[in-house]
Amino acid sequence: MSDNASKTIDTKDPDELLAPTPGLSGGVRSASKHDSGPKHVAGEAVYVDDILEPFGTLHLAPGAANIAHGRITKMDLSKVRSAPGVVCVLTADDVPGVNDVSPAHTHDDPVLPDGIVQFYGQPVFCVAAETREQARNAVKLAEIEYEELPAILSVKEALEKQQFVAPPHVMAQGDAKSALARAKHRRSGVMEIGGQDHFYLEGQITFAIPQEDGDVLLHCSTQHPSEVQHNIANVLGRPANAVTVEVRRMGGGFGGKETQASQWAALAAIVAVKTGRPAKMRLDRDDDMVMTGKRHDFIVEYDVGFDDDGRICGLDIQYAANCGFSADLSAAICDRAMFHTDNAYFLGDVEIRSYRCKTNLVSNTAFRGFGGPQGMVAIERIIDEIAMTIGRDPLDVRIANYYGTTDRNTTPYHMTVEDNVLPELTDDILASCDYRKRRKEIDAFNAESPVIKRGLSITPVKFGISFTTTFLNQAGALIHIYQDGSVHLNHGGTEMGQGLFIKVAQVVAEEFQIDLDRIKITATNTGKVPNTSATAASSGADMNGMAARDAAMTIKSRLIAFAAEKYGVVEAAVRFAPGRVIVGDVTELEFADLVKQAYLARVSLSATGYYATPKIHYDRETASGRPFYYFAYGMACSEVMIDTLTGEYKATRVDISHDVGRSLNPAIDRGQIEGGFIQGMGWLTSEELWWDDAGRLRTHAPSTYKIPACSDRPEDFRLELWSSGRNVEKTIHRSKAVGEPPLMLAISVHRAIADAIASVGDYKVIPMLNAPATPEAVLNAVANVAKGMIAQSHDAVPAAGE
Ligand code: MTE
Ligand code: HPA
Ligand code: MOS
Repeated sequence: MSDNASKTIDTKDPDELLAPTPGLSGGVRSASKHDSGPKHVAGEAVYVDDILEPFGTLHLAPGAANIAHGRITKMDLSKVRSAPGVVCVLTADDVPGVNDVSPAHTHDDPVLPDGIVQFYGQPVFCVAAETREQARNAVKLAEIEYEELPAILSVKEALEKQQFVAPPHVMAQGDAKSALARAKHRRSGVMEIGGQDHFYLEGQITFAIPQEDGDVLLHCSTQHPSEVQHNIANVLGRPANAVTVEVRRMGGGFGGKETQASQWAALAAIVAVKTGRPAKMRLDRDDDMVMTGKRHDFIVEYDVGFDDDGRICGLDIQYAANCGFSADLSAAICDRAMFHTDNAYFLGDVEIRSYRCKTNLVSNTAFRGFGGPQGMVAIERIIDEIAMTIGRDPLDVRIANYYGTTDRNTTPYHMTVEDNVLPELTDDILASCDYRKRRKEIDAFNAESPVIKRGLSITPVKFGISFTTTFLNQAGALIHIYQDGSVHLNHGGTEMGQGLFIKVAQVVAEEFQIDLDRIKITATNTGKVPNTSATAASSGADMNGMAARDAAMTIKSRLIAFAAEKYGVVEAAVRFAPGRVIVGDVTELEFADLVKQAYLARVSLSATGYYATPKIHYDRETASGRPFYYFAYGMACSEVMIDTLTGEYKATRVDISHDVGRSLNPAIDRGQIEGGFIQGMGWLTSEELWWDDAGRLRTHAPSTYKIPACSDRPEDFRLELWSSGRNVEKTIHRSKAVGEPPLMLAISVHRAIADAIASVGDYKVIPMLNAPATPEAVLNAVANVAKGMIAQSHDAVPAAGE
């Protein structure tokens, strides 16, 4: 237990309970299965495309531009319009209201472009037909001509030409320049970090059903129903109350549906309102990969100074992010990369610059970690480079740079880190993963093995929890209890597989002390809980759990007041126990009986709830404040094996200890950690996006874009929820957010691969490994390290790129 953690524990506080409440089925802390788990497995879970189609449903297909940048000089769609089954064809002219679905009102995300094409694959028109096949066939009959304009296809070129979607931004602490000048050791380098496709199993989709008076109901796969509602109202030129968005579940979002569902929702909505027929826009997988944004690829340039112990004493770092053609969430994403430059390390004298580069490529967007991973991967490579320079074990250099608990604890954005548990968590994982012993074994193995090399790395994660855009940190909920005691639960969060719905239901079950099966989990709907934020920033359970508890407490206090009065006891004598309510010394009622009595006595059994995260504030002008309520921590130790003749590799053993505070649901949390880790591993190893010279994405299907397969999971995978985990802040039952942080545990795999490559040069040549470390990249790095050995005489510690 850290000093921070042990001070304030009140063991009578129900939020502090470590174990599930006995006698209660499915309260907090229980490893309740995902509410849709059996339906997922049986194929019975209803996704948008599974909703029964009413008679007359139309199907949409987008028509894409085949240049990266240019002016449309002719668009002849007559053959498209007369193709079999076609009912209507949309262009920019058919947008009845505002032709924009940009999330931050930057007005640069047209539903369909009006004259100028901004990337290869951008939809320029859309067909609605009786069947999907008819719509897709009709698209091919378009005759479009362009006057081509120069296209910027790389972040490097955009940076050179100073093309930005948002102004550059700087964050600093101390004086990096003079600290660097004074530093005993100094190194500089460049790291290229690739993007990542979300590869959600369910692609982007909206099913629009026309309502009376030109209103529309949208079944949409989105993390942000309220934003889709407002955007589509604008597009239709109608007030927000004309549009209702409903989301029962997504087949994955991973950030890709935080903003980028609107364009497809808009097309479906326009067709539905125009024709009076239900309209479905479902992107084909290849179209989804080409037409929707991804994780930002970055170029990071750094100049670091350090002492003989490897302690960083000055850092100048610059990020250039490929934002694509429009702003989308890029400003906030690039900010989060800056916020995670430090990862877990104190950077006393630091300057961080960020450039938000505009390219003629698809507009990049949120992806699990939201820029944080790019910042963290860079600093972890820098740490390894420092360790090799001074000939220390990288683990020792990491520990030497950790934030202190009482000093050395201010971040580059001037927030004091108050909850640093990494020193203890590191001790715990080191005891169980045998890092030091295995390091020696690996050295011995590598000395004897000329072709197969083993590598080992242990890396920490510290991830800031809260939307850095402070006003987004709010949530709402709605609870009804019916006369039979069954509960209807609704809140603004969306379910994308992460287990948010079950966690919030557990919170409500705990509050009322009723079994989970008495609670109906219902679809997110803008008509029930309005003005919500995206389910994002890992804050879904923190915020909606609190809002739902607030609603439950309102009803509960009415029930308590009613029971106290009816049975003539003080309110404090009314107690909710599992399945029943105890009133004074003698009376015991079933929950449902109390509810029925309260109804007959005209007590309201319905309430809304609300939550706004406390303590946070941030001034972007001065880049200072407390943008995060708290931090989530974790650590992963990864061992890999590489084949130096082919560049192939596998993760042989991974140990993870991750801090979820006091878990709301350990089964769900474990799933999030495993899934996040594997997704991060995919990003840093096999998943490579590749555009050709025309700006055309060539890795637009699983045939060419390699997400991790079952066989890529670590052979020996040991995962622990850190046993001392407890949130020092008063979050919902002292839990911590878990959605994004584990993705960054996978940085250890990338670093372990680099470690294995370094063994080829007897750890004397630094492998400047970029991401992703595809087998090709690994093979090149091995060759370069071998060459670096030959060139040894010229440089004490040479570096070798890929
Ligand atoms: N887990 C699953 N299965 N599917 C998803 O789409 N998205 C991730 C994470 N875990 C995702 C997931 C992302 S990007 C975020 S921000 C969080 O879940 C959002 O949900 P939460 O706030 O409820 O954790
Ligand atoms: N995370 C995720 N989504 C966001 C954020 C964030 O910090 N800020 C704005 N949208
Ligand atoms: Mo998650 S990238 O914040 O949707």
